[in-house]
This record gives sequence, structure tokens and C-alpha cells, in this order.
Amino acid sequence: MEIPSARPGEALPTNNPEPPAQSFPDNDPAPGRIEVESLYKSYETESGFREVIKDLSLSVTEGQVTAIMGPSGCGKSTLINLLAGYEKPNGGKISIDQKPVTGAGPDRLVVFQETALFPWLTTFENVAYGPKIRRELKGEKLDSVIMSLLRTVGLEDFRDKYPSQLSGGMQRRAELVRALVNRPKVMLLDEPFRGLDAMTRSLMRDYYLDLFERHKGTQVFVTSELDEGLLIADRLAIVTNRPGRIKKILDVALPRPRDESLRGSPEYLSLKAEALELLHEEALKSFKAGAVNSADFVGAYAAMG
Ligand SMILES: Nc1ncnc2c1ncn2[C@@H]1O[C@H](COP(=O)(O)OP(=O)(O)OP(=O)(O)O)[C@@H](O)[C@H]1O
Ligand SMILES: [Mg+2]
Repeated sequence: MEIPSARPGEALPTNNPEPPAQSFPDNDPAPGRIEVESLYKSYETESGFREVIKDLSLSVTEGQVTAIMGPSGCGKSTLINLLAGYEKPNGGKISIDQKPVTGAGPDRLVVFQETALFPWLTTFENVAYGPKIRRELKGEKLDSVIMSLLRTVGLEDFRDKYPSQLSGGMQRRAELVRALVNRPKVMLLDEPFRGLDAMTRSLMRDYYLDLFERHKGTQVFVTSELDEGLLIADRLAIVTNRPGRIKKILDVALPRPRDESLRGSPEYLSLKAEALELLHEEALKSFKAGAVNSADFVGAYAAMG
């Protein structure tokens, strides 16, 4: 899908004259390394036994964005739930900095596509909720860290608005800031921009890139948009049709900071062609098995000629 280059009337972070607050670096997350070894997950369903993830191994490098892509139903959300500790595997191991994951923990934060902002709190109060509960930051320091983050995503003028007064894209930006302010070792994002229109989605990607490039941290980012994946990721992990395992990892060695202009470079186009071929093979299998969403990759591949 072609992403329009015109911007709505919102200032992009790169146009922002104010530098980030000096106090922020102390608050940057200490990145964690994730090791996944021979992961196995199955479900007993009404229609029978279903293997969702089988023999999935993956190393997620600390301080990098690893994008996860694969056909619909291949187990991407299941993998995120397992990494978050919301679900338990039936086999294999997951560890973060060599510590086995046995359940949910404050070292991991998940950003879903549905908003999880508290409707009765303002943008600022929503973001401040975690640090206040843990009594980590307070007063001016808390204010400065939060305002610096809100400024990065163009929400400083919306600090006192409630979620219902924010657009869908603004809510997702507040969500990203709320996750980041908690300094998780690992941020897990399951299609956080799904459902947004193309223009808002490309803006979100730019805000996300700006946040990541300023503050780093280990990120596992599930996406169904190949251009989004290639622009944000350091590594692109392609998952097979269900039962999901890693089919291939592509190193996305494109220079940072990144923007839309990279999309025309020979390196980008060659990576895109390679990824699309791999995704297409898996999408065809999933399409034949009846997964409608996979038609996107099949169509995109056909359009490349
Ligand atoms: N709790 C559950 N009980 C039974 N089956 C489940 C459960 N959770 C997921 N599944 C099945 O596991 C498979 C993978 O689901 P999952 O949501 O992880 O896929 P996905 O790759 O995230 O798909 P999408 O791209 O559509 O979001 C699907 O066939 C789904 O029906
Ligand atoms: Mg999913």
C-alpha cells in the first residue's frame, strides 16, 4: 500500500525546536536479551488438538528492534503472550538476561492494538501512573521526564486531556509513552498501529522511530506491514505458516535515523524483495488453508511482478 507523504497539521518531532530534557538519559531502559529455545505451544480446541508454535528458536538482541512477520494465524500473538508470561509454553524455554520467564513481570511491557489507557485519567496522569505507583520518580523530575516524552510524540498540549478527547493515533502515542516511561527491559508490541488509516499509521511509525532512536531498548514488534517492519527493524524475523517457527532472520542494516526516503534505496528494495518472497511462500500455504488476511502478501508479491 502506498503511504502518502503529506502530513496532517501536527508538528513532527523532527520539527520540534526543544531538545529532550537533560534528565531523561537516567530513565532510559536497561535493555534485556531474550533467548527462546525450541518453543512449543499447542491448544485443545473444540475442533481438536492444535499446534500453534513448534520448535521456535530466536535470539532477540538487546537494544534492538526485532520485527516479527508471518501469515495470519501463524502464532505471532501467541509468541508475544508467551514472552510476556501471560501464557505458558508446553515445551521449550524462554529467558531474559538468562533468567527463565515463568510468568508476567515488570521487566516486560506489552503494547496491544487496543487502547489500555485509563479513561478517568488525563494523558499526563496515565503516563505518570506506573512511576508513581512504584515511587521511582516524583515532582519536577517526573514532570520533566514525562513532558520530554510527550513532546517527542507531539502530545505536550494534550497533557490534561482525557483519552476520550484524543484521536485514535494520539491514544496510541500516549500508550507508547506510557510503556516507555516504565523503563521495561523489553517492550513487546503486537501490531500496535493496526486499524489506523494509512496516513496516521505512517505518522505513528515516525513517532515510534523517533522515540526508539532517542531512547533505544529491546523491542519485539509484530507487524503485518512489510514497509513498517523494514523501516523500524534492526532484524526481521519471518515466521512460517502454523505451526510457527522462525523461517529466516533478515538483518536490516539500513542507516539510522530512518525515514520514508530510504524506501527508494537499492538496499531497501533488495531486502524488501527477499522478505516478500519468503512471506509469500508462507502466505500461500496459509491462504490455501483459508486465512483471508494472508491475501495481502500474495497480492503484494504479485504486484512486484
Ligand atoms: N487460547 C486459544 N485457544 C485455542 N486456540 C488458540 C488460542 N489462542 C490462539 N489460538 C490459535 O492459535 C493460532 C495462532 O493464533 P495467533 O493469534 O497467535 O495468530 P497471529 O499470528 O497473531 O494471527 P494474526 O496475524 O491474525 O493476528 C490460531 O489458529 C488461533 O486460533
Ligand atoms: Mg495476532
